[in-house]
Amino acid sequence: MKRILSGMQPTNRLQLGNYLGALRNWVDLQGNGNQCLYCVVDMHAITMPYDAAQLATSTREVTAAYLAAGVDPKHSSIFAQSAVGDLHAELMWYIATMTQIGKLDRMTQFKDKAGKNAEKAGLGLYAYPVLMAADILLYQATHVPVGEDQKQHLELTRDVAATFNHRYGKEFFTIPEPMIMGEATRVMSLRDGTQKMSKSAESDMSRINLTDTAEVIADKIKRAKTDPLPLPETVDGLKDRPEADNLITIYAALSGTTKAAVIAEFAGKQFSEFKPKLSDLTVAKIGPITEKMRHLLAEPKEIDVILEAGAEKARSIAAPTLKEVKQLMGFWKA
Ligand code: TYM
Repeated sequence: MKRILSGMQPTNRLQLGNYLGALRNWVDLQGNGNQCLYCVVDMHAITMPYDAAQLATSTREVTAAYLAAGVDPKHSSIFAQSAVGDLHAELMWYIATMTQIGKLDRMTQFKDKAGKNAEKAGLGLYAYPVLMAADILLYQATHVPVGEDQKQHLELTRDVAATFNHRYGKEFFTIPEPMIMGEATRVMSLRDGTQKMSKSAESDMSRINLTDTAEVIADKIKRAKTDPLPLPETVDGLKDRPEADNLITIYAALSGTTKAAVIAEFAGKQFSEFKPKLSDLTVAKIGPITEKMRHLLAEPKEIDVILEAGAEKARSIAAPTLKEVKQLMGFWKA
């Protein structure tokens, strides 16, 4: 049996990259005897300036997005990290003692988020990957489906697990495997094909939010940056054309085909012909999710019931893990 765990931060609205790089794969991984745990990582969301009055609402919104995309609470446990926050934070502390600062210094997400003023960044932002490792190890997850940007954090998690196992003389922690799946493992900004699409990027035009209307989606795609050339004849022809590559990738991922198949269909065509097709496809795939989210958010109490059941299940798995960690580490009466 695979134990699958993953999470998303409730910061702003989810965007197309979150959906294609992660969420859609979470849905596909349900069933086949897999046990799935999907977390809303609200304790990570507070590592950057945020609005406390909005945090619980954002947590419900992300939960609604999981459900609307097809995460089924019958097969998967959906929970807020903070609802099991005592256990996540406690394990984080223990494994922080075996995480090398040199490794944290190399984390590109920290560098990106801290920017030029790294000296002023909070300890929480720096320690973010350690909390993420705790999220994963606490549940002994075997597989972690994420977008490509999380690969480095997963490597750190594997390192920490191996260090623990070595130090305490037992193959205790499962070494988790990253699952980076599909054509769109790194969806790029619509304004700059060299930057990742992100829910925290300044320009809303750079991303497609899961809550955008059909008109907004069409407008964003129409104005998406491109180059003056027609679409190439082969996938190789996308080299050094990051914007073209990104739009083709999105099309391939949304239609469930490959870039080669999309190129075969649109070879030699102008963007003016391709973009309306991409808009229609995006609206057809995202529209129903947006609609479902709206329905779900009209009944926030039902979302809370799902989160409560998820938290109970999560705690029942996490508590025994943490108990054994304490025993192995030699704590009094553990
Ligand atoms: P977050 O909220 O930034 O991203 C959530 C997921 O979406 C993927 N993703 C993308 N994939 C492709 N293209 C993009 N442009 C794009 N943008 C985001 C991310 O790779 C991620 O899978 N640190 C995690 C949250 C986390 C977590 C965990 C994940 C905390 N604890 C434990 C797995 C397991 C993150 O950055 O989330």
